[in-house]
Amino acid sequence: AKVHQHDFVVQTTQVKRLCKTHNAITVNGQYPGPTLEVNDGDTLVVNVVNRARYNVTIHWHGIRQIRTGWADGPEFITQCPIRPGGSYTYRFTIQGQVGTLWWHAHSSWLRATVYGALIIRPKEGVSYPFPKPRRETPIMLGEWWDANPIDVIREATRTGGAPNISDAYTINGEPGDLYNCSSKDTVIVPIDVGETHLLRVINSALNQELFFTVANHKFTVVGADASYTKPFTTSVIMLGPGQTTDVLISGDQTPARYYMAARPYQSAQGAPFDNTTTTAILEYKSAPCPAKGSAVANPVMPVLPAFNDTATATAFAQSLRSPGKAPVPTEIDESLFFTVGLGLFNCPSNFRARRCQGPNGTRFTASMNNVSFVLPSNISVLQAYKQGIPGVFTTDFPAKPPVQFDYTGNVSRSLWQPVPGTKAYKMKFGSRVQIILQGTNIQTAENHPIHLHGYDFYIVAEGFGNFNPKTDTAKFNLMDPPMRNTVGVPVNGWAVIRFIADNPGAWLMHCHLDVHITWGLATVLLVENGVGALQSLEPPPADFPLC
Ligand code: C2O
Repeated sequence: AKVHQHDFVVQTTQVKRLCKTHNAITVNGQYPGPTLEVNDGDTLVVNVVNRARYNVTIHWHGIRQIRTGWADGPEFITQCPIRPGGSYTYRFTIQGQVGTLWWHAHSSWLRATVYGALIIRPKEGVSYPFPKPRRETPIMLGEWWDANPIDVIREATRTGGAPNISDAYTINGEPGDLYNCSSKDTVIVPIDVGETHLLRVINSALNQELFFTVANHKFTVVGADASYTKPFTTSVIMLGPGQTTDVLISGDQTPARYYMAARPYQSAQGAPFDNTTTTAILEYKSAPCPAKGSAVANPVMPVLPAFNDTATATAFAQSLRSPGKAPVPTEIDESLFFTVGLGLFNCPSNFRARRCQGPNGTRFTASMNNVSFVLPSNISVLQAYKQGIPGVFTTDFPAKPPVQFDYTGNVSRSLWQPVPGTKAYKMKFGSRVQIILQGTNIQTAENHPIHLHGYDFYIVAEGFGNFNPKTDTAKFNLMDPPMRNTVGVPVNGWAVIRFIADNPGAWLMHCHLDVHITWGLATVLLVENGVGALQSLEPPPADFPLC
């Protein structure tokens, strides 16, 4: 196994998009940031130097961080932010994960431009369980704001309303042909006739689930969130923010140029929907060259599902399976039920109207089990936990919602107001955990991509409506459920996940729609140390940033 050393300099960089030059925050001047390539078993050592004017942290999305929770990255959960002028070296080993992950800033909305791919290949000498691809290309789907994304979310927090939607979707940082001033930078992905090509698709958008497709080509899905899947064929995939999907395509079409394209899956009625589409071009290298000076022949346009096509999104999620019999826990020690959804705060009487610009003069909020998570501000949860510092968080996060109601029905206003708090749920090392994630209809019904740090979990069932223990338990797939780190809880529905809590630390669980984290759709799972060093969190590194 190798040790890979990298320097990440977080800095302000001029980036030209949509006809204008912007000051964007980048890593090493690159947008998207550098791609990290490792093998399973390798160690990554990334020295992050902050030369920007914002606090920053970097999260290694999906990396298990076994016993190295200090390197996980979410600000005020596992570390204090790296201040301007400061630095911190993240050091961790990849243990038993293969496929596509990514890294991103985990501080305010910096991840809009501070992100990159993290590719994990099998250990030396181990091959993929599918035909070896001739080429591999990361496809990072993103969102671009003309305004400074930090200002966008600060403004929304000030007014209590929804943040402005992005100005473009992007593929590898480029909006593509269909946007103004973007054509000449459209990303081109080469392919040869007869070639097998692995696309490592990552949804790094802040706030949008996205459909992705390539004109005339079929995908063979082989992995998701750095776990292999039983291969299956589809022409479209759907990813929530945070999720990755590995697909094979074959150069089996007439040599030409074909668009690959992404656009939102956004089932929420009345939610902001931008009907634009980001594109890149799949180009056969043997395609006839355009005559000199003539316009390049228009690429073939794919058909994308409609923005509210829940059937297609659901069919895709339900096609994912582990390759063989999976070691899903069958006995459960921690049986948890978490609601996930939005809410509204009535406006405090001393607030001016311009701070109450949510629906009907309220302020937007979001919660799990009616608790709207508040980040600590001068110490991380993990540090307070390990050093026994009181007053930072409490461990009374409820195992079940405090009030049971018709989660997907019309809900009385009295249930709309969550209680702000920094509450964690504590569990013993090795606990076998089941969490029923129940979406609520409060304020708006929509998918919530729920991400758990420090773990992969099995998605044993998903469904619509209210979870019914009598009838739905019988539908659990304990044979070959997919393993992921982010589950899209279906609109007006639920998902059930299972895992073994064998990684001690403080692990953030949150909706990966960034505006929902801002509004409090999060909690923390505290996993105690087990017996001996191999079941205990390592001590923090010497350069661990303090507040
Ligand atoms: Cu990809 Cu808490 O994040």
